[in-house]
Amino acid sequence: MKALALIGSPRKGGNTDCLADAFLEGAAEAGAEIEKIYLDDCNIRPVCELGDEFLKRVDLRADDDWRRVVDRVIEADILVWGAPVYWQGVPAQMKCFVDRWSCYYAAKWLNQGMVDKVWAALVCYGHPSQDESHWVIEPLKAWVHRWRGEYVGDVCVAVAKKGAVAEMDEAMAAARELGKKAVAAAAK
Ligand SMILES: Cc1cc2nc3c(=O)[nH]c(=O)nc-3n(C[C@H](O)[C@H](O)[C@H](O)COP(=O)(O)O)c2cc1C
Repeated sequence: MKALALIGSPRKGGNTDCLADAFLEGAAEAGAEIEKIYLDDCNIRPVCELGDEFLKRVDLRADDDWRRVVDRVIEADILVWGAPVYWQGVPAQMKCFVDRWSCYYAAKWLNQGMVDKVWAALVCYGHPSQDESHWVIEPLKAWVHRWRGEYVGDVCVAVAKKGAVAEMDEAMAAARELGKKAVAAAAK
């Protein structure tokens, strides 16, 4: 069983990265093979213009890293999305990856490959007094629905300073537990 973390933040050692480490540690303890991809390290361009007929669409940017990453996603049983809130949404690095699904909207390989996965989310946001996590969780749940996945939960933390979440024992423990829970769900 494979667990893959997709990190939307460009901050290595940042808050979502730290939570992802805890999640993957829990998943590994529960027996999963683990992998992490920093989307910011990948050359994934925004979606190009697409035709209206789904089956005739052409991905004019197919020579970048998107296909390599989506192949890793398809191989995984568990997807954990590490996304800080950026301006009421997910970081552009992650949105570019997601938008490219539309190039292959009706393609069998994508539709068969993406379904029936276990999904989880790790969300950090800087607002000190207002829960901003819904800006990530709501779209993410719509993606889970689109790909007929199982959403096992999220860890959402109000934290701004780079890596400060690593000192928040409760949040780190919750991410570790979520990793174990995801493996248990994927094993069913
Ligand atoms: C470009 C940018 C946009 C942000 N937008 C928001 C926002 O809309 N709401 C919020 O609460 N925090 C916002 N933040 C704060 C981050 O979500 C917060 O610092 C988070 O902990 C960063 O996670 P990371 O360490 O994984 O990068 C923003 C930060 C950046 C750099």
